[in-house]
Amino acid sequence: MPFDDYWYIVAESRELTPVRALARRVLDEWLVCFRGMDGAPTVLRDRCLHRHAPLSAGVLHNGLLSCPYHGWRYDGAGRVVDIPSLAGSDRPAHCSPPYPVIEQDGFVYVRVKRDAAAGIVPFPMPHYGEAGWLTLRLQNRFANSVANCVENFIDVPHTAFVHQGIFRSTRGQRLAATVRRSNAAVHVDYRNESDNLGSYRWFLNPRGHAIRHTDSFHAPNVTSVVYEIGARVFIITSQAVPVDDRETLVYTDLTYRFGAWNRLVAPFLRRHGQRIIDQDIEILARQGENIGRYGAQFRDTPADLIHRLVDSLRDAIARGEDPRALPAVEHEIEFCI
Ligand code: FES
Ligand SMILES: [Fe+2]
Repeated sequence: MPFDDYWYIVAESRELTPVRALARRVLDEWLVCFRGMDGAPTVLRDRCLHRHAPLSAGVLHNGLLSCPYHGWRYDGAGRVVDIPSLAGSDRPAHCSPPYPVIEQDGFVYVRVKRDAAAGIVPFPMPHYGEAGWLTLRLQNRFANSVANCVENFIDVPHTAFVHQGIFRSTRGQRLAATVRRSNAAVHVDYRNESDNLGSYRWFLNPRGHAIRHTDSFHAPNVTSVVYEIGARVFIITSQAVPVDDRETLVYTDLTYRFGAWNRLVAPFLRRHGQRIIDQDIEILARQGENIGRYGAQFRDTPADLIHRLVDSLRDAIARGEDPRALPAVEHEIEFCI
């Protein structure tokens, strides 16, 4: 069960239209994405069958994609429906086989392997489109691997440094958590969380209630951070898509239920969410550069157990194993922030 058995976001649904083709790269495969005449999403290799010009540089009209070089035209099933130089004569049947695609929760997912293992489905985005919930969607490019990105997204100790003030405003707090690995996921349940919201605090937790904070990782590439503060719930779900070994495109959903405040706070949450992500982009780019120079030989603290368990799942996938087969484990950890 290697990494290409899994589904990865290739575009947001709203980005794919019958008039503009998108160039994307997933697991080092070069892809062109568009909507065919029937509106269904299509993903083909970004390479014309004729002389291999990139199709993403072509013109998309009414769901038909014309190659920019000699004008071969492709439909949503990857079939060549027109070869201008053969006008009038018989056209041989050519087809660029489309990749498997699923459209779900406002995302278009692709699987770059055609004969992948059955039973793997895209991660369902929590509460997407549900009444009472709002989702703000962000897209960001990180100059680092999926492994280091997902580590960052559920890493608590860095928040006091990288996001000083805008995320966590206190220091010296002792956090305890239960960390579990089971069924290809890692779950972290924090206890005694009370003030980790920094400048969000005035709004999210004005009365200083206890915060229920749970993080999770879902192999191979999804993280979820959930804050429950009374009736208010704030969920950050990140899908880290491997462009190649050192570049990751991350789709982040900020999904929340704040009652009557939902629409009012959207611009504020989007701006602050992006500001926090920008800080992570910067530190991860620097880390990525150093790992590129010297490789990765990390040293651990108790908080890093979370990352070791995440690595154990991704390592199993890299070995071609099913990460769901790893034994369930549970640990208590404690650390200071
Ligand atoms: S390379 Fe695409 S039509 Fe010739
Ligand atoms: Fe961060």
